[in-house]
Amino acid sequence: MQRRNFLKLSGLGVGSVAAGNSFISLLAGCRKDHHRGLKTEPVWVKEGDFSRLLSFPSTAGANHTITAQVTSTNLNGATIPVLGYQPNRMLGPSFRINRGDAVNILLQNNLSEHTNIHWHGLKIPALMDGHPDQLANAGGTFRYQFTVNQRAGLSWYHPHPHNKTGKQVFQGLAGLFIINDAEEAALNLPSGPYEIPLVIQDKRINNNGITYDPSMEEIMAGYMGESIVVNGVYAPYTEVATRYYRLRILNGSNARVYNLAFSNNADMVIIGNDGGLLSNPVTVKEILIAPGERLDVLVNFSGTATGTDLYLVSKEFAHGGDAQGVQSFRIMKFKVTSAVTDAFTVPANLSVINTIPSSSAVRTRTFEISNAMEHHGYPMNDGMKMRHRINGKLYESSRIDENVAANTNEIWVFNNSKGDEPHPMHLHGVFFRVLQRTGGRGNLIASESGWKDTVLVMPGETVSILVPFENNPGKFVFHCHNLEHEDDGMMLQYQLS
Ligand code: C2O
Ligand code: CU
Repeated sequence: MQRRNFLKLSGLGVGSVAAGNSFISLLAGCRKDHHRGLKTEPVWVKEGDFSRLLSFPSTAGANHTITAQVTSTNLNGATIPVLGYQPNRMLGPSFRINRGDAVNILLQNNLSEHTNIHWHGLKIPALMDGHPDQLANAGGTFRYQFTVNQRAGLSWYHPHPHNKTGKQVFQGLAGLFIINDAEEAALNLPSGPYEIPLVIQDKRINNNGITYDPSMEEIMAGYMGESIVVNGVYAPYTEVATRYYRLRILNGSNARVYNLAFSNNADMVIIGNDGGLLSNPVTVKEILIAPGERLDVLVNFSGTATGTDLYLVSKEFAHGGDAQGVQSFRIMKFKVTSAVTDAFTVPANLSVINTIPSSSAVRTRTFEISNAMEHHGYPMNDGMKMRHRINGKLYESSRIDENVAANTNEIWVFNNSKGDEPHPMHLHGVFFRVLQRTGGRGNLIASESGWKDTVLVMPGETVSILVPFENNPGKFVFHCHNLEHEDDGMMLQYQLS
């Protein structure tokens, strides 16, 4: 971001200073206009006609090669180039792995720039985690070898090369990583055709591919698209029977937050989140999901007559800042086509989530993520630096920001109380409990019990988490999962030792 360009665009250039604004009123003007003078705008979703059949990436096991490549697919009528980890579609295979499996995945990089893979939601050694330092050069490879030793859940994978993450993900690189275990299997949850993975993303589709060219305003708001794709299919439909389904949902968007609901106001039974099963199911009518977050949802179509069409939608929501939550739109269609009998009942108890007393925390670290003006360079001659920071700092790979002792519990506090943008904050290498949210929504939501790796901090909010750091030494990043914010520098490092 060039400061001069910023001043010109923001309408707060030299002229207005010379016109006699006091320093204070100049600052007030910035605050009022949000984002240091740049007003961000929503990107309005254009619904399709829901005539394309939902499809699924192939399934892969513990030994596999995935090839990051330019490929082509028909997203929206025309065949266009996209990025994928397999030919002829966006995304990569969905890994299905049992707890205890040794994984050996070779990343072949056939892109013309470096890339890597972060295994988002996997507790694995630092050198396998897809840290931005650990790259596969163009034409090169990186071998990921690790043992999966964590409870069942829906994790995912995506590139993490600093400054390029947003582009590579937006243009198609991501995939699911599903872990199964005996505890989950014993619940006999809907499976096979009744377990539906849904990767929800927004894209900007043009005749030549997927546009990724964020302006200053789009770096502020995050890059959003007008076309909602599910599993890489624009405005899809799927056929369902009159029974329970298990929807495994990833928000794989760069920046867009969804407030998921059903068009017929059906109950959504939340049974899991980022870190796997909750202790007990929670029934809601709508649920927010931020970039990077996952949901495990049971929905019962048994009360719906065959021949009925209903939709997974995103409803309007509050506290999203200027650019988010201002529109309701449909995401995909469920056509109820067959009548069956279904004996499934939702288990009352899903898993055991041990309580960790907050008093066990050996220290509290506070992270200022408001990116409000007063935390940035003053006075004006130092520029109203409009970058996304944590505690005033931009990502620097050679700097360790936080030193954490292995096998200790800590409270981390993300303070967005003065901010005006949503920030989904993500820690690598650990799962955490969400303790408290003050300001903004003021409460935890149904998906925030159990184990999380990403937590949404809306404008005005301060969110505290309890992190049990285990003995997995090394250097890990933590960052905002709005990928434009992350690429802009809203990422720090902790060293666990
Ligand atoms: Cu899914 Cu560091 O991110
Ligand atoms: Cu952010």
